[in-house]
Amino acid sequence: MKILITGNQGYIGPVVSEHLRGTIPQAELVGLDTGYFENCTTAEAGPQSAPHIQLQADLRDIQPRDLEGFDAVLHLAALSNDPMGQRFEQVTRQVNYEASWKLAALAKSAGVKQFVFASSCSVYGLDDGTLKTEQSALNPLTAYARSKVGTEESLYGLAGSGFTVTALRFATACGFSSRCRLDLVLNDFVASALSHGEIVLLSDGTPWRPLIHVRDMARAMEWGLQRQARNGGAFVSVNAGSEAWNYQIRELAEAVGEGLGGLPVRLNPGGGPDKRSYRVDFSRFRALAPRHQPQWTLTQAVRELSQGLGGVIQRGMNFRDSYWIRLKVLASLMDERRLDASLRWRAERPSSLPHKQRPLRPESGKVPTVDSPLEG
Ligand SMILES: NC(=O)c1ccc[n+]([C@@H]2O[C@H](COP(=O)([O-])OP(=O)(O)OC[C@H]3O[C@@H](n4cnc5c(N)ncnc54)[C@H](O)[C@@H]3O)[C@@H](O)[C@H]2O)c1
Repeated sequence: MKILITGNQGYIGPVVSEHLRGTIPQAELVGLDTGYFENCTTAEAGPQSAPHIQLQADLRDIQPRDLEGFDAVLHLAALSNDPMGQRFEQVTRQVNYEASWKLAALAKSAGVKQFVFASSCSVYGLDDGTLKTEQSALNPLTAYARSKVGTEESLYGLAGSGFTVTALRFATACGFSSRCRLDLVLNDFVASALSHGEIVLLSDGTPWRPLIHVRDMARAMEWGLQRQARNGGAFVSVNAGSEAWNYQIRELAEAVGEGLGGLPVRLNPGGGPDKRSYRVDFSRFRALAPRHQPQWTLTQAVRELSQGLGGVIQRGMNFRDSYWIRLKVLASLMDERRLDASLRWRAERPSSLPHKQRPLRPESGKVPTVDSPLEG
């Protein structure tokens, strides 16, 4: 089995590659990434977390020949959160929707059998007090969420005739990765606890947010890559996660405080309402993928994050200004004139240098601040 993994040099990619190398050892993994965050690491990546072949390319330039010979595509490449979608709305549409649709169409024409798409529970938008099922009305509130809805719709139109599509509507990711991101709610709380000895919430802590551990995401993707059309149909769009991980923000903060030895949590009772509050029903995922259900607990996730980040987050560090915040990295690369306004590289990149010779951090330390550091 030959699998193309787009966006494999992001937060989730290394964890998925490692998981697939273990669970589908005969698979040949080919990564394709433009490399926005290539040097933004939090740990030495083990050899298992790299694909067998790495391609450096922009998804928007993908050609029919690039899909030849693949059995499956795991599509992760995207501008992958709301703050990036807000700042780069047009690019979000180009990459997350238009190029994603083209990738899938080319994949089908090339005879690819399985297409797995990393969608998002953010397609549901507002909390109206009900658990969101796959039948719930979609209410995408952001450019990012709209791009996910658009791509799901186009994938629905392509599925069939031997082309099996699985759109996994993931909850917000958390957990450690060799390319860990700190613009995600639980990861931010752990980094905050390590750097400042407390967790300070922007809100009153009441919004609901479904979470999923990054290793449980990998398990779901493994399922999608091997799903047969008789299990759910040629096209499946399914919430990927578990009800046990529908948390209120304050519960997450308190779990981090407890996990790190009883650190204080400061709520903001006057904090404005968070429109992205929602809870999700995962019963369809349980029915379709009973052997690929989430296994991590919140306590384990907090412990793993604090151990992993403990080596890189120093006391007093302003990690929200660091290269582990994705929007900061893109802004920094633009300030340095390495990326243009459409987030294309201005000059050929030095990809021939061995990894260790490349700078570990983007060279410009000066990056603008954003109001909200969170969300994935
Ligand atoms: N992290 C989450 O909470 C979460 C939740 C639900 C869904 N997802 C989805 O999972 C996928 C992976 O998420 P992640 O957290 O690893 O994101 P990430 O931002 O860390 O990684 C995305 C990768 O895509 C690459 N990329 C972006 N534009 C590209 C382009 N034009 N051409 C080639 N490569 C490009 C980037 O260089 C990056 O390495 C995304 O599609 C995201 O929307 C993530």
